[in-house]
Amino acid sequence: MLTPIDYPISLDFDAENGTFEPCPQVTPRHLSDLKEMFSDQSTVAQILRENDPLIYEIRYYPFTTTKSDMALAVTRIFPGTIGNEFYMTKGHKHQREDQPEVYYCVRGEGFLLLDTLEGEFRAIPWRAGVITHIPPMWAHRVVNTGNDLLVFIGVFHLSAGHDYDIVARKGFAYRVLSRNGKPELIKQD
Ligand code: 6PG
Ligand code: NI
Repeated sequence: MLTPIDYPISLDFDAENGTFEPCPQVTPRHLSDLKEMFSDQSTVAQILRENDPLIYEIRYYPFTTTKSDMALAVTRIFPGTIGNEFYMTKGHKHQREDQPEVYYCVRGEGFLLLDTLEGEFRAIPWRAGVITHIPPMWAHRVVNTGNDLLVFIGVFHLSAGHDYDIVARKGFAYRVLSRNGKPELIKQD
C-alpha cells in the first residue's frame, strides 16, 4: 500500500504528457478492465480476440498525513473508439455520500458526464482550462472525443471509495458516440 507522509511535498507535473514525478502508483486500464461499459459488445469481443488496447492510465499521489487523506489523481485518456463509442473512463460514484471531487481538464477535449443514476444527468463540454466540481452522490465519467490525449487532474479524499458496480448495473443516461467523426449524445433506453 501507499506510504503515509507528514511533510510538505511538491511534484513536477508535465501537463503535455499528463505525468508527474515522483509517482508512486500508476494504474493502467485496458479494454478488458471496462469491457462491460461499452455498448457495442460484439466489437468489444472481436477486439479482445486480437489484443487488449490501453484506454487510459491513472497516476496517483496520496498526500496523506496523520490527520488528512487528500489525494491527487492524473488521468490520461488516449484517443480512440470502440465501435462508434469514444474511449472513456469506467465511471464511478463515490462510496461515501459526503464526498465531492474537483476535476481540472489540462489538455484535450471531450465531455464530463455527471449522473445521479436516479434521473438527473449533465454532460459538461470539456476542454483545457475547465474546472468542474463534482458534488457528492453524482457518478462521474470522462469521455475523450478528440484526436489527441485528454489529461485531467482529480482531487479527492482517499476515504471516498469507488462504487463501480452501480454504474455497471444502471449505466449513464447518455452515451457519447461518434457520428461522421463528430460527438453526439445518445440517450440510453
Ligand atoms: C477518483 C477520481 C479519479 C478516477 C480516474 C479513473 O475518485 O479516484 O474520480 O481518480 O478514479 O479518473 O476513473 P475510474 O475510477 O472511473 O476508472
Ligand atoms: Ni471520483
